[in-house]
Amino acid sequence: MRIRHFLTDLDLSPAELDQVLTLAATMKADPYAIKPLAGPQTAAVFFDKTSTRTRFSFAAGISALGGSPLVVNPGESQLGHKETIADTARVLDRMVSLIIWRTYAQSGLKEMAAYSSVPVINALSDDYHPCQLLADLLTVREQLGTTQGRSLAYLGDAANNMANSYLLAGVNAGMDVRIAGPQDYLPEPRIVEAARARAAQTGGSVLITSDPAEALRGAEVVATDTWISMGQEQEKEARLQLFGEYRVDAAAMAQAAPGAVVLHCLPAYRGVEISAEVLDGPQSVVWDEAENRLHAQKALMAWLLVESGLADAETERLVRAGTR
Ligand code: CP
Repeated sequence: MRIRHFLTDLDLSPAELDQVLTLAATMKADPYAIKPLAGPQTAAVFFDKTSTRTRFSFAAGISALGGSPLVVNPGESQLGHKETIADTARVLDRMVSLIIWRTYAQSGLKEMAAYSSVPVINALSDDYHPCQLLADLLTVREQLGTTQGRSLAYLGDAANNMANSYLLAGVNAGMDVRIAGPQDYLPEPRIVEAARARAAQTGGSVLITSDPAEALRGAEVVATDTWISMGQEQEKEARLQLFGEYRVDAAAMAQAAPGAVVLHCLPAYRGVEISAEVLDGPQSVVWDEAENRLHAQKALMAWLLVESGLADAETERLVRAGTR
C-alpha cells in the first residue's frame, strides 16, 4: 500500500475529496469517536512561518484524534539548515505518525514526502494552501448544500497560494471558479492548465479575468485574501494601489448573487482587501470557515492514515462508514 500525502489540492481525486469532506461533516457531528492516533501517537507540526489557525487547529485536532502534537516553531529544529530534508524525514518517520509542515518552497514538501514512510501534509506553502480549501469547501457545503455547479469568485492577489488553491480545489469539487486580479497578478499558466484539466473531469469551470465585475456577476460565493502575504511587507504601498478595485465591499457584494456567502481565510485587514461591513456582516461565514479548519483537517489526517494502511481495523471501519 502506498503512503498517501497531501501536498497540493489535486492530491485528492474528486471522489476522494468528496470522501474527506463527508468524513469531516461526520466527525464535526461526533468529534471524539474516531481515534487513529490513540496511544498516544505523536504528530510533528513544523512552522517556518507564523500561524494562529493552522497551529491551533492541528494541535487541537491531533489531540482529539487521540494523539499528541509536537509543534516546532521557526528555528527550533535542524530541519533545512543543519540537516537535509531527506535525513529529517528518515529520522522522523521512525518516531511520529504524521508530518505537517508550513514552509516556503513546494519542493521542500515534495522532498519530505519522497523520503517519509508516514503521510506528509502541506500546512501552507508559497504555492498552495490546500488544508484551508478543505475547510472552505466544507463551509460551502454547509451553506449551499453542495459544491457541484456552485459559483465562486475570488478577488485580489490572484498570483498567490490562496488563488491557486481556490482554483484547483474549487474545480476538483465541481465548482464554477472565477479568479480576478490585475493583469500581472493572475495564476501561472501551469496552474490554470491543471485546473482546466480537472474541471473537464468534474463539470467545473474556470474563468481568469482582470475585470472584477465579470467574476462577481451572480457569484454564490465571494472570497478574498490579504493583498500583502508573508514576506511582501516592503511592497505594501504599491500593492494597496494595485489591488484597490478588487476590494470585497458592499459595492462588490451587490454584483454577486443575492445572499451570496463571503469567505476569507484570515487574518483579515478590514478596510483593505475586505470592508469591515462585509467581514462582520450577515453574509460573512468566516468564523464557521475558521472552525472548519479543525474538522476538515481531522478528517484528512484520519483518511490519510487509513488509505496509507497505518490505521487499526476499528479506525478503518469508522472512517469508511463516515465517508458515506
Ligand atoms: N488561514 C490561516 O492559515 O491562518 P493562520 O496563518 O493563522 O494559520
